[in-house]
Amino acid sequence: MKNVSIALLGCGTVGKGVIDLLAMNGSLIEEQLDTKITIKKILIRDLPKYEHMDLPSNIALTTEFADIIDDDDIDVVVEVMGSPSFSKDCIEQCFKRGKSVVSANKDLMADYGIPLLKMSQEHHVDLQFEASVAGGIPIVRPMYSSLNANRIEEIIGIMNGTTNYILSSMTDLGMSYEAALKEAQEKGYAEANPTNDVSGYDAARKIAILATLGFHSAVTFNDVSVEGIESITQEDIKHAGEMGYVIKLLAIARQDKDGIALNVHPSFIRKGHPLANVGGAYNAVCVRGNCVGDIMLYGQGAGSLPTASAVVSDVMNVILHRNLRMTGMRDYVWHDAKLKDQGSISASYYLRMVVANAPGVLAAISNVFGEDHISIRSLIQKDETTEIAEIVLLIDRSPDGLVRESLKKIEALPCVHKVANAIRVIEV
Ligand code: NAP
Ligand code: HSE
Repeated sequence: MKNVSIALLGCGTVGKGVIDLLAMNGSLIEEQLDTKITIKKILIRDLPKYEHMDLPSNIALTTEFADIIDDDDIDVVVEVMGSPSFSKDCIEQCFKRGKSVVSANKDLMADYGIPLLKMSQEHHVDLQFEASVAGGIPIVRPMYSSLNANRIEEIIGIMNGTTNYILSSMTDLGMSYEAALKEAQEKGYAEANPTNDVSGYDAARKIAILATLGFHSAVTFNDVSVEGIESITQEDIKHAGEMGYVIKLLAIARQDKDGIALNVHPSFIRKGHPLANVGGAYNAVCVRGNCVGDIMLYGQGAGSLPTASAVVSDVMNVILHRNLRMTGMRDYVWHDAKLKDQGSISASYYLRMVVANAPGVLAAISNVFGEDHISIRSLIQKDETTEIAEIVLLIDRSPDGLVRESLKKIEALPCVHKVANAIRVIEV
């Protein structure tokens, strides 16, 4: 049996998962590859933090990347640090030294995926990154491989476990946003600084990676229009439920003849929609191909062993490529992306407004929408005091830019205290 020595850059949630998975399933993997995978070295920063860790005695911990890059025995490097610039530098050095890389780093792949993939090809090594999107769910490889006979028209999914956990807790248990976020942090779903999760940036990076692969288009994180869930309140959740919807943070990539639209935003989706039933910290991704039709992949988008499942599968793929002498030979094709103007993208909206409880208020609001050719589908007056009322409207599909302009005019009306929320309604 052959042996392949690998190194891990990082030994946190994912790195430890890789160690545990190889201990659990080593013989199953050896049987498939006729190759033993041995973790030889692990790079970390803070040595004393890891001394208590019960690591196999043949693994050496180091704080020096040179110990790994200069070790000619190490063929594959697994980057599970998540540090944007240091990770990029390490990966580039690996390529130059003929080492293939497996990375779980979505921040890096969303911004530098294409240059790094090109560089890996130039150096005839692999760069695999299945775990960078939706953790344990196999979606990256299907996107460029299993589904590549299709013209991909739409990718839509719940790609952030933290925000799905928060919204599910708000919906199912009536929790406030703040309490649900605190619980997500306590359970280890949210990052220590949860901004990347709740602001939608994490999901935006993931949809940028999938759109690049699925649409053969060079897009990055900066091409995604992003809104997070910070403004969602228990009122919005309640109103959505009464109207037959749930609120989910969706990442959406659509491609048609006019171009590509990339969005992450909270969305009203019908209770019967398959994504409506994706609860807790789970992820799901729906893909529409012009021949396969609709498919949906569902599972754990984060966590130690689920993410390690994707990482180790990538390592196995690199080993198979090495055995076939085809590392770095994947022929990705990208075109420059033709992106749609965000203002032109149409959607229906749920709107919640706090207004004066007085005659003529609804007429004034309807008047603005009427002048802007925006059609009101329904309007309900909710809680009211003698002076203030809350109203909830659904408006028909209208271009994003026009809706924003109209809402500015409405917010300037003396009888309108505030437009408390505007959430897109996904009618599928
Ligand atoms: P983590 O628990 O914070 O662990 C990070 C590890 O990397 C730690 O061992 C840390 O060492 C090490 N590290 C960080 N910067 C370093 C540096 N400059 N030099 C040397 N070592 C460094 O992170 P994680 O959750 O495992 O995530 C790792 C990557 O996987 C990230 O890119 C993340 O986005 C991605 N990912 C994570 C999940 C998940 O469920 N957690 C799912 C999918 C993808 P010290 O402790 O010594 O600092
Ligand atoms: N923080 C991410 C999430 C997990 O909540 O889904 C890593 O992608």
